[in-house]
Amino acid sequence: MGPGPSNVHSRVLKAMSTPLIGHLDPQFIKIMDEVKEMTRLLFQTENQITSVISATGSAGMETCFVNLLEPGDTAMVCVSGVFGNRMCDIVERCGAKLIRLDAQWGKPVQPDQVKEMLVKSNPKVVAIVHAETSTGVLQPLEEISEIVHDKGALFLVDTVTSLGGTQVKADEWKIDAVYSGSQKCLSAPPGLSPVSFSPRALEKMDSRKTKVQSWYLDMSMIRNYWAGAKRAYHHTGPISMIYAIHEALRIVLDEGLEKRFERHYRNHQILKEELEAMGFEFLVAPQYRLPMLNAVKIPAGYDDAVIRNRLLNEYNIEIGGGLGDFAGKIWRIGLMGESSTLNNINMLISALKQIMK
Ligand SMILES: Cc1ncc(COP(=O)(O)O)c(C=O)c1O
Repeated sequence: MGPGPSNVHSRVLKAMSTPLIGHLDPQFIKIMDEVKEMTRLLFQTENQITSVISATGSAGMETCFVNLLEPGDTAMVCVSGVFGNRMCDIVERCGAKLIRLDAQWGKPVQPDQVKEMLVKSNPKVVAIVHAETSTGVLQPLEEISEIVHDKGALFLVDTVTSLGGTQVKADEWKIDAVYSGSQKCLSAPPGLSPVSFSPRALEKMDSRKTKVQSWYLDMSMIRNYWAGAKRAYHHTGPISMIYAIHEALRIVLDEGLEKRFERHYRNHQILKEELEAMGFEFLVAPQYRLPMLNAVKIPAGYDDAVIRNRLLNEYNIEIGGGLGDFAGKIWRIGLMGESSTLNNINMLISALKQIMK
């Protein structure tokens, strides 16, 4: 019940123990094609360039930036938590010019702030985090996307924590580059990062004058492995992990996206009522709260580390501590994918009651 990884369904663990076949075996290519198709359904997109990067969510982040930015380009990053900061670091490593829009942690970035910043600058890419795992904020995207496109920039979005737990409408919200991670609401082990690029993003990639700065994350080559007419070796696909995400995506779609989002929301409400009855306060205003990551203030007089250690050692329950300015001040309670259950909520609440008595 931390900020990820979440629990993994036994069907996924079992899929991982399937005997290996070659990463260019026709059967494996078929599995990859199914993974691509299911990933499109999750991102709610028809983007042709949709695949899974063979590394964790941060690699998805890096893939989006290194493929869309060339040295000297300008990128604007909206920062309201740890992962916005990470985006800034990557932009600078691409040799691009960084414009930071800093918003208060625990609050969403407002469209007016983006508009104001864009009057003074002309970035090629504007990036934002949909679900800031460090603060528990769900960032509304539609209005900001309109503003970004009016300015002719590409819209890049982090959905590591939101995908599979709440709506992510890549096409409807006109997202040009989007990435996620396998270990949060998809409930597969960490190690893969679904990505998708719009036709506009593809145009920008195809008109590059310089090589992508990372060999491993260069989509022009990864594309040939995942989608080319003749599938070309790029790197040795992580076979067992692809088995895992294939099964995890099947489980998500068997449940149905709407039902899954409802379950995440309902369990968040139940946890909220229980915690509020115990005197806890949420960090984030109700309309911007993430259903899968509950950020609550630690009540005065209670020690963060002592309680989290007791939860872990005596009750076998993990919750997350605060990051940055929120270290020691908040807890981050995950209700992601397989971990978003009534049983988990009941166990946590009764353990907390006993410890805090
Ligand atoms: C919003 C967000 N973006 C990016 C990442 C980085 O993902 P990973 O740790 O899988 O590399 C995380 C990880 O927690 C995250 O929560």
